[in-house]
Amino acid sequence: MSNESFPHLCTSFQLAGKTLKNRVFLAPMCVCYFDEEGYVTPAVIEHYGRRARGGVSMVITENLAVSRVGRQLPKQGLIYDERFLPGLTKLAAEIKRHGALAVIQLVHAGRYAGSHEERGEQRRLAPSALPFLLHREQMITPQEMSRGEIQESMQAFGEAAYLAQQAGFDGVEIHGAQGFLISEFLSPRMNLRTDEYGGSFENRTRLALDVVREVKAQVGRDFLVGFHLMSDEMLPGGWRTKDAVALAKLLEQEGVAFLIPIAATFETVRTPEHQDFLSRPLHNHAQCVEIKRNVHIPVFANGRLEDPYVAEYILAAGEADAIGLARPLLVDPDWVKKVLGERVKEIRTCSCTPPLCLRTQVTGGQCANWPEAVKAQGYLGYAD
Ligand SMILES: Cc1cc2nc3c(=O)[nH]c(=O)nc-3n(C[C@H](O)[C@H](O)[C@H](O)COP(=O)(O)O)c2cc1C
Repeated sequence: MSNESFPHLCTSFQLAGKTLKNRVFLAPMCVCYFDEEGYVTPAVIEHYGRRARGGVSMVITENLAVSRVGRQLPKQGLIYDERFLPGLTKLAAEIKRHGALAVIQLVHAGRYAGSHEERGEQRRLAPSALPFLLHREQMITPQEMSRGEIQESMQAFGEAAYLAQQAGFDGVEIHGAQGFLISEFLSPRMNLRTDEYGGSFENRTRLALDVVREVKAQVGRDFLVGFHLMSDEMLPGGWRTKDAVALAKLLEQEGVAFLIPIAATFETVRTPEHQDFLSRPLHNHAQCVEIKRNVHIPVFANGRLEDPYVAEYILAAGEADAIGLARPLLVDPDWVKKVLGERVKEIRTCSCTPPLCLRTQVTGGQCANWPEAVKAQGYLGYAD
């Protein structure tokens, strides 16, 4: 598709042997339309199929948990057993039917795993037993993981990636940001271990790199393995951009196909000075540019980039190789079609602060700017 106003956005891109038909993809965004047991539902298939039909070149699903103990939300998808394959196979096929690459984001939620109210006897796993604010005023102390539990979590990522490949996905994206398990190990604030998984940069990055190696060993060469990289923790004594740059170079050496750098964690956005983080235009961009300057593998930008003129500028300036949109595609799945068809004024925008879609994550990702009929249905699928 050619387009005079947005020549870079509409250009295709070679990604580790696969083709992105343009430079816009769906960034991972938890809407939790799965059922309580973690299976794909018809709403999940429609939600992602609809975004693919809107013209994005790649759909990265929301994070699916690689184990029960690593699951954060009551209706979060799971991927740890063959019984999840029938639903996941339908999901991959539906995304690909519309010409988009299909990628699953894989997560172990670490200290954020488990529903907020009922945790029962299950251990809440973290690198170190440090108290943290889980939910409003609820301080929680997780348990320090044993080496066996670290090994199990690493293997769970590999097994999940293998299942994603069996289901027909083009790749997986490993979640190493936002304060979930892998980024907890990276952070000198959250990881106070004294064994080979804590202390030095080399030790704190061990789990991230072991997970990548394990995943790649399970899936072979022709399967995309991307990494969602915490680009700066934005808290005193935390993981900094220089650390992310150093890790990005190691991930490149391990054969990671692309990086999506995002800053901050759940802890960061609870501080008064960063409460509006998700609403700030280009909120991950400075760190993204810094990482892009230091590696040769593709680096994808994300974070309030819904203005197509800004997105085009970023690509033209060589500041990123593709643009990820999350909320803009929840509110308007036809963003790409409208931009590439020179119908920018018709884009339905995402504007609420704080984002309503975040607050309703546990009950389903509603959007304040959806048409009323869609709100009544609870999701924006093919019947919009
Ligand atoms: C409701 C909601 C759910 C999200 N879920 C995920 C997720 O599952 N994995 C992830 O890496 N990021 C997640 N994010 C972060 C988004 O990928 C993205 O970084 C953020 O929304 C900023 O991009 P945007 O301005 O294009 O929405 C979520 C964001 C929102 C608002």
